[in-house]
Amino acid sequence: MSENKKGKINVGVDLGTSNLLIYVEGRGTVFNQPSVIAVDKQSNTVVSVGTEAAELVGKVHDKIEVVKPLSGGVISDIDMIRKLLLFTFDQLFVQSAQQIKRLLICIPSEITETERAAILQLGLELGIDDVRIDEEIKAAAIGTGIDIYTPSGNLVVDIGGGTTDFGVLSLGDVVLSRSIKVAGDYFDKQITDYVKEVHKLEIGPQTAEKIKIKLASLTGDLPTDEEGNVVEFRAMGRDLVSGLPTQVIVEAKDVREILLNCFEAIKSTLIATLEATPPELAGDLVENGILVTGGGAQIRGIKEYLEEVTNVEVIISSNPMTAVVNGTKKLLKMNKSHFFGELRS
Ligand SMILES: Nc1ncnc2c1ncn2[C@@H]1O[C@H](COP(=O)(O)OP(=O)(O)OP(=O)(O)O)[C@@H](O)[C@H]1O
Ligand SMILES: [Mg+2]
Repeated sequence: MSENKKGKINVGVDLGTSNLLIYVEGRGTVFNQPSVIAVDKQSNTVVSVGTEAAELVGKVHDKIEVVKPLSGGVISDIDMIRKLLLFTFDQLFVQSAQQIKRLLICIPSEITETERAAILQLGLELGIDDVRIDEEIKAAAIGTGIDIYTPSGNLVVDIGGGTTDFGVLSLGDVVLSRSIKVAGDYFDKQITDYVKEVHKLEIGPQTAEKIKIKLASLTGDLPTDEEGNVVEFRAMGRDLVSGLPTQVIVEAKDVREILLNCFEAIKSTLIATLEATPPELAGDLVENGILVTGGGAQIRGIKEYLEEVTNVEVIISSNPMTAVVNGTKKLLKMNKSHFFGELRS
């Protein structure tokens, strides 16, 4: 590669359990697809990534493996993450990742030192000198338009695919954080178990997710269609008794009950986070409200549910699934000393 092509672009990455989003300075968000990769096991080459790879889940033969390299908010397969990022970067930058001057990767707050080091190393392996990591919760707040660099406290709750993260921010830093593995994937699993137990039907993860998105609610009226009828979901799967393909109707009231059970953990962690917040900042939270973001922020009735629990105003992010990547846009412009990866290394 010629020198004048090297080190020109700044790139921000939201490496989520469910979705990978990539922002390129000057081009905007150029990638927003599932964090999934399909590889040919024999040749160890990448077959596809993102949406294309996600469509292969459960449908491939022995020679192809479809992997979600992040699960429960942890890096379960760093080699697959390397492949996923390299392949995606190659598609996006046509030439090489070496065109990237600065790479910022957003990660969960509760990530281990080893995972953090692996991510930093991965950036260096890509041939990028200036690799930074920062916390998702911080990027999400910035991406929603909150000025976190004031001495006023803000509380952010990010309900993603793998984890629900809770973070209190002040003066641009995460003062306090909590993370639980009760989030989108867990909700899907609870729906799968319910359908299995009650309807004796085995459904795939994609069906469970569709049921959740269509029927999920926590309080208020159950979701209705245009005619005002309460919505239900016709789920296809395999009958556990006969082994034959069949369908059942899943009702919104049952999904609400499942979600209310799941939200017990979210509720108690939120309360614990509030209780652990220093009093001066806790006062600010009452004024600033609680910001809820991530895909789970779109569950119907979540605002009312969390307001009832905390007595504090709840603000639902207007862009819950792109808040983190939008935050990288601003974070990429900042001085290196602001960064989590640098500050604590
Ligand atoms: N309308 C909706 N209602 C409920 N859940 C939804 C909705 N839309 C998306 N989701 C769920 O949101 C989750 C994905 O959210 P998001 O993209 O914020 O996660 P992520 O950033 O990849 O994960 P994490 O932050 O845990 O690593 C998935 O579980 C998805 O099913
Ligand atoms: Mg996320």
